[in-house]
Amino acid sequence: MEAVPTNLSEIILRNLKEAVIFADTEGRIRIFNPIAEQYFEIEEKKVLGKRFDRVIPYKNIRKQFAMVYEKQEAHYDIELAVYPPEDSGSKEKMRLLRCSFYPICDPKEIFLGCLATFADITEKGLLSREISKSKDLSTIGLLARWMAHEIRNPLSSLNINIELLREELKEDAHFSKKEEIQSLLNFISYETLRLENNLKDFLDFNRLPPLKFEWVELNEMLESIVRLLRPDAQIKNARIETHFQKNLPMVKVDVSQINLAVSNLIINSIQAVSEKGEIHLYTRASKKNVFIVVQDNGVGIAKEHLPKIFDFMFSTKPSGSGLGLSIAKKIISDHQGEISVRSELNKGSTFRIRLPLHSKGG
Ligand SMILES: Nc1ncnc2c1ncn2[C@@H]1O[C@H](COP(=O)(O)OP(=O)(O)OP(=O)(O)O)[C@@H](O)[C@H]1O
Ligand SMILES: [Mg+2]
Repeated sequence: MEAVPTNLSEIILRNLKEAVIFADTEGRIRIFNPIAEQYFEIEEKKVLGKRFDRVIPYKNIRKQFAMVYEKQEAHYDIELAVYPPEDSGSKEKMRLLRCSFYPICDPKEIFLGCLATFADITEKGLLSREISKSKDLSTIGLLARWMAHEIRNPLSSLNINIELLREELKEDAHFSKKEEIQSLLNFISYETLRLENNLKDFLDFNRLPPLKFEWVELNEMLESIVRLLRPDAQIKNARIETHFQKNLPMVKVDVSQINLAVSNLIINSIQAVSEKGEIHLYTRASKKNVFIVVQDNGVGIAKEHLPKIFDFMFSTKPSGSGLGLSIAKKIISDHQGEISVRSELNKGSTFRIRLPLHSKGG
């Protein structure tokens, strides 16, 4: 490994109070400043020229590096907890790092590697500080509440589905019912898995799980949300009807997050309608966008409330936490989309989500 010539940038790197690591196109470490040596408890000379996945001792940090190589997308201000390896003999217990990972490109947009910066925020007593700052959408405090919200809604659907299953099984399990039972079981395991994954991301101290984009058939995805929520509507004697545009182009989204956003809208509609309520779910596509519309004939929203409904923790419900719509809005805007509403008191509400279409190449 050639020594990097002493110049201004090197002096800056040496004096920086943040750890800085840069790995080149092949993932080989080219910069590892003194604070990085301290945080990771490895000497610079032992890592220079080696691949990050062989020398960085923390899995959650290697994962963030790998994501930059995979998608060439930046992730800023992620909070990660690192524990020194047991055999390192280190006295340090846990270090909480605020990290950013980003692809570095030259002026011609050619990818040069991944730059990562780390600031130690352990001493600032992150948890208590962040929780008290609960007005801020990007805090652990929000995430804790978000998780509570994330878990509560699927849990109630799970319970209803398990109840249905119990009913089915009370009677002699006819073979004709086998498919129905199988499909209820599939939902239950799908939802359980989703909860488990979200919990995993949460325990990793990531603020909001990073977006994991995949190509999906939007109608199919919505159909499965409806299937899961229909029992909640049926309890209120309300109907959910779907009006999907056929041959909708595929969309590239984070399935579990869009799932959450749309579920929040449908759950609100279910809560807003009374007996014989109707909830209609539409999909449409234009050249550049797809639209998801959730329409209900429920209680509607008062004019003075309309500007506030997407605010964090705004709720008019006795036991509402006021998170559903703020989370939906955050998720849709993270997807470069938009969410809008029209509503009239005692007539009903219509929520519309716009999501930009991506070309298959990109
Ligand atoms: N479909 C709807 N019909 C009538 N009012 C609605 C509808 N959707 C949202 N609202 C209003 O917007 C407020 C905020 O909704 P949001 O989903 O963010 O929170 P919440 O439903 O009160 O609580 P949470 O979703 O956290 O359980 C609701 O309290 C309600 O007043
Ligand atoms: Mg809600």
